[in-house]
Amino acid sequence: MNRSAIFLKVGALALVMGLWLGIAHLSGASEAVDKGPETLILQSGPVAPSLVPHWKHQELLGRCEPCHELFPQKAGSVDSLKTEGKLKKKQVMNLCVDCHKQKTEAGVQAGPVRCRDCHRKELKGQTQ
Ligand code: HEC
Ligand code: HEC
Ligand code: HEC
Repeated sequence: MNRSAIFLKVGALALVMGLWLGIAHLSGASEAVDKGPETLILQSGPVAPSLVPHWKHQELLGRCEPCHELFPQKAGSVDSLKTEGKLKKKQVMNLCVDCHKQKTEAGVQAGPVRCRDCHRKELKGQTQ
């Protein structure tokens, strides 16, 4: 094997290694999902703010839809979309309540449907 052939092989190996490291880096980055806060508070017009056990739902549902089909993963997005008229009042609430009702009727582990279990007086005046 002459010198230039060795250089060529070393060069090719370095290229493959570089690509492999690049791919490993990219997939590593996409695994680091921003889960947002553990619990969230949504302002709820004239009634007490709503509590959203955020991580609990992520684990429970194993996915970010159905919630984030309606609004982006951004603090304050529900309020902004409601103000802009792109989300109706109680549209997000209906999504929450509908799922809890369906699961209750199906007799499986379900969330609350009573107003006061979501709308918590103790959260009045609090934001996130
Ligand atoms: C049960 C509904 C629901 C599910 C499921 C859900 N989220 Fe959220 N998420 C919310 C709500 C409500 C907000 C707050 C929106 C607002 O402040 O207007 C939010 C906000 C966020 C934010 C922004 C938080 C901040 O303070 O900047 C991130 C990031 C986020 N979610 C990530 C995720 C990811 C990732 C998943 C899936 C693994 C997920 N969420 C599943 C309801 C949900
Ligand atoms: C599973 C949780 C949950 C339950 C149960 C629930 N709500 Fe809500 N509610 C929410 C959430 C979240 C919001 C804020 C987002 C929205 O407006 O869709 C909200 C918003 C509201 C609003 C404000 C709408 C606006 O912008 O003016 C009112 C009023 C309201 N709820 C009344 C009620 C009443 C009355 C009950 C009981 C019959 C009830 N809610 C039960 C979660 C719930
Ligand atoms: C697709 C189904 C689904 C949607 C959508 C959903 N939930 Fe739930 N939620 C559940 C289930 C299932 C549980 C039962 C969790 C448990 O008992 O551990 C639950 C539990 C809860 C609890 C009680 C948690 C506890 O520790 O007891 C609250 C509060 C709640 N949900 C609020 C909301 C709000 C507010 C929304 C909308 C922003 C929402 N949920 C949307 C399925 C859903």
